[in-house]
Amino acid sequence: MDEEQRGFAEIMIDSGKSLLYILNEILDFSKIEAGKMDLEQGPVDIRDMLNSVMELFSIKAAEKKIELYSEISSQIPERVRGDETRIRQILINLVGNAVKFTEKGSVTVIAEMDHSPEYGPHHLLLSFKIKDTGIGIALDKQHQLFQSFSQLDPAINRKFGGTGLGLAISKKLVELMGGAIGVQSEIGQGAEFQFTIVLEKWREEIVYVEDHLAARLELPDRNSLASGIRILIAEDQAVNSHLLEEMLRKFGGVCDVVGNGAQAVDLLAKTQYDLIFMDIQMPVMDGIEATCEIRKTHPGIPVIAAITAFAGERDREACLQCGMQDFISKPFHSAEIIRVLNTWVPYIHSQKVN
Ligand SMILES: Nc1ncnc2c1ncn2[C@@H]1O[C@H](COP(=O)(O)OP(=O)(O)OP(=O)(O)O)[C@@H](O)[C@H]1O
Ligand SMILES: [Mg+2]
Repeated sequence: MDEEQRGFAEIMIDSGKSLLYILNEILDFSKIEAGKMDLEQGPVDIRDMLNSVMELFSIKAAEKKIELYSEISSQIPERVRGDETRIRQILINLVGNAVKFTEKGSVTVIAEMDHSPEYGPHHLLLSFKIKDTGIGIALDKQHQLFQSFSQLDPAINRKFGGTGLGLAISKKLVELMGGAIGVQSEIGQGAEFQFTIVLEKWREEIVYVEDHLAARLELPDRNSLASGIRILIAEDQAVNSHLLEEMLRKFGGVCDVVGNGAQAVDLLAKTQYDLIFMDIQMPVMDGIEATCEIRKTHPGIPVIAAITAFAGERDREACLQCGMQDFISKPFHSAEIIRVLNTWVPYIHSQKVN
């Protein structure tokens, strides 16, 4: 791309990111409001997590020439049990705010253990403080802070952006984790936010069954899940096929991509494949017709329908009718790809042995 095109592409990426950010905030907020926010329970390394959050803001802080400090008490165990994504989300918002509303000076994060015995032998209370030397918050405005869509100064917020949901979400998440959040500040004197959360101690004697998708993704052999499997992707949207191909390649799959059903049928007449991912709506020949054709000559190859998330029961029925065996929905998610591979790769191997 030339410089101008590159500039436009960067704007598109940035706009896409902020749109996604706002969407996610609104979705999170309404999920919490509806009482549908379930916390995951998995291993959390508080040190690692805090370091990565600080790193996330290091560029922004360097640009603004403000210092970032973090202190983490050595009493905090290496591993605790909780919802890493959500703890990170709270920290990202608070540290993000501190960096956003500070023009000079520093932002300091302190993580400590609280030894209140009331949490029993299997839980612990962590406390976090996020201090900045920024614009501060007037005492009479502090009660509004944690309300949804509340931003204190329209002029400032036009400059800094955001939706005013960050603190409302953080407060709800903190409360879901059995803690509390508060602020001390004076206008022009910086701000100090503190929050606490109750986490489970990690007990070596327990074998945890992780319901956490990320934990499942960390299985040591995931890189070879589809090792040597020859895969044909029929998909007319380059964005989709690209993403799918990248994911499958990461798992060791060997992929070819075609742009419609007719090309898939042609290629299958010449080349051997173990697994097919088939889009439904494609030009020239759609996925249903192509699968009907393929079934005449290749009864055994698993064909996975890649269908849009809003496809109805009827579309699924049609896919099964023509001999597709499984579905993945778009946009593709690696957890679903893993599920498909876990289901079909053993079958493919058993076919090869026979
Ligand atoms: N560290 C801080 N110093 C000064 N003002 C703050 C600080 N943190 C939050 N505020 C004020 O509280 C308001 C609400 O913060 P909140 O995180 O909820 O929203 P936001 O940062 O404006 O947008 P979002 O987090 O949704 O992107 C901010 O707009 C700002 O006016
Ligand atoms: Mg914020």
